Amino acid sequence: TGSQRHVFFVFGASGDLAKKKIYPTLWWLYRDGFVPENTCFIGYARSQLTVEKIFQNAAKYMKVQDDEREKYEQFIKINSYVHGSYDKPEDFERLNEETNKISGQATAHRFFYLALPPSVYGSVSEMISKHCRPESPGFLRLIVEKPFGKDLESSNKLSEHLSKFYSEEELYRIDHYLGKEMVQNIIVLRFSNKIFSRVWNRDSIAAVNIIFKEDIGTQGRGGYFDEFGIIRDVIQNHLMQILSIVAMEKPRSTTGEDIRDEKVKVLRCIAPIKLEDVVIGQYIGDKDSTDPERQKGYLDDDGVPKDSRTPTYAQVVLFVNNERWDGVPFILRAGKALNEKKAEIRIQFRDVPGGMFDEELTEHGVKGTLARDELVIRVQPNEAIYLKVNTKRPGEMGFSIEETELDLTYNERYQDVKLPDAYERLILDVFTGSKINFVRSDELQEAWRIVDPILAEIDKKKVPVIPYKFGAVGLREAFAGAAMHGYIYTGTYVWKDERSG
Ligand code: BG6
Repeated sequence: TGSQRHVFFVFGASGDLAKKKIYPTLWWLYRDGFVPENTCFIGYARSQLTVEKIFQNAAKYMKVQDDEREKYEQFIKINSYVHGSYDKPEDFERLNEETNKISGQATAHRFFYLALPPSVYGSVSEMISKHCRPESPGFLRLIVEKPFGKDLESSNKLSEHLSKFYSEEELYRIDHYLGKEMVQNIIVLRFSNKIFSRVWNRDSIAAVNIIFKEDIGTQGRGGYFDEFGIIRDVIQNHLMQILSIVAMEKPRSTTGEDIRDEKVKVLRCIAPIKLEDVVIGQYIGDKDSTDPERQKGYLDDDGVPKDSRTPTYAQVVLFVNNERWDGVPFILRAGKALNEKKAEIRIQFRDVPGGMFDEELTEHGVKGTLARDELVIRVQPNEAIYLKVNTKRPGEMGFSIEETELDLTYNERYQDVKLPDAYERLILDVFTGSKINFVRSDELQEAWRIVDPILAEIDKKKVPVIPYKFGAVGLREAFAGAAMHGYIYTGTYVWKDERSG
């Protein structure tokens, strides 16, 4: 028949990312009926593997329910594996022939997912473009993951290389934070609510805090991590992406190009970070812990050189130099091996002027200040949006004031809704050709421009990392820095999720 076929390639099929994320995601999409009919999957890597072996390795990440077994077997059947080098034309020609055979259609659309180390991006992308393009009218989409270079120069070089072989239209740069429910919700919250759009600026907002915390260390990923550090690993991409959505002007429409135009525009208003606005740290083992993982410091990770100065924690403060945000600090903070796993955005509003309630507040909080309103968008875990507000202490006579919240907690309000995994959404976007949640080359370049000088300076000046213990809440120096920039943390309010623990 003339029906259109699709081929999805997983390059690096034997690797960690493929096993833990990509194959499971492909399975879930298939299971849930999102994969177009007539799709087949081809794994490619250097080792002599088989489809069975790949699925054995990935088995524990697949989460197959008993009643899905049959479907799972069908899914495995539409998978194939081809092995070959990452740089020899003849191997890619052979892959091309195999693909034509397997799909039975030389014009099948082809999606290439590169779950590969950066050292081979260059050659693989070139080989694919030269030898594995489908015949017209089939189209090609190339999905790439960070690291996109190590600094502005190497990132630009990679972009240039890719642009020789692909149009921007064909490139899908993944930042998986863009696949998260709450990150996608920022646009709706901001632009569909009058109540937020009116206050979303320097007149009402005192500071924005974007926080990423993990309660695990590098766990054997130290070899990769040590070359990059937390600023490149999390801040330059995930947190900067969130920042651009929080700070951008209203896009003309919901199309990918209109949204990305605004993200780039706001990034262009940000000056490179200054060294005085940076705090960096590195975790050390907690000798008192009973957990052997937590006893290990970063330098105890096998892949990490004993004298490494790579930060596993960092806080940077950015300013958006435009009419909306002039003077408002955007505090981006990320750390591994802390006390909890959490990602959230905190929009802190300014003090209420005119002090009518001041005298009432002596017993909690600082004398003479009302607690500030704060909008918290909790990205994970336990997705929520809550607005910290002041209320009259219930039942009391007079104007006793207490902090409380207006709360939209997803697992209470939307009990039956299952939120898809970030990768599921993003790979589905690739199938459907939606580019809203992928990083355009100019966005990438702007994000690097902002962090590049500080990375170089940290290196050159050998800026020391402040040690912190595995399981710490954070770095005192970072909190002090945030306070200095006007973010006020009183510690008088605890959200319900954190009350008992
Ligand atoms: C990745 C980083 O991009 O994001 C990891 O390389 C980090 O270091 C991970 O652990 C966090 O992703 P998530 O979805 O678990 O918050």
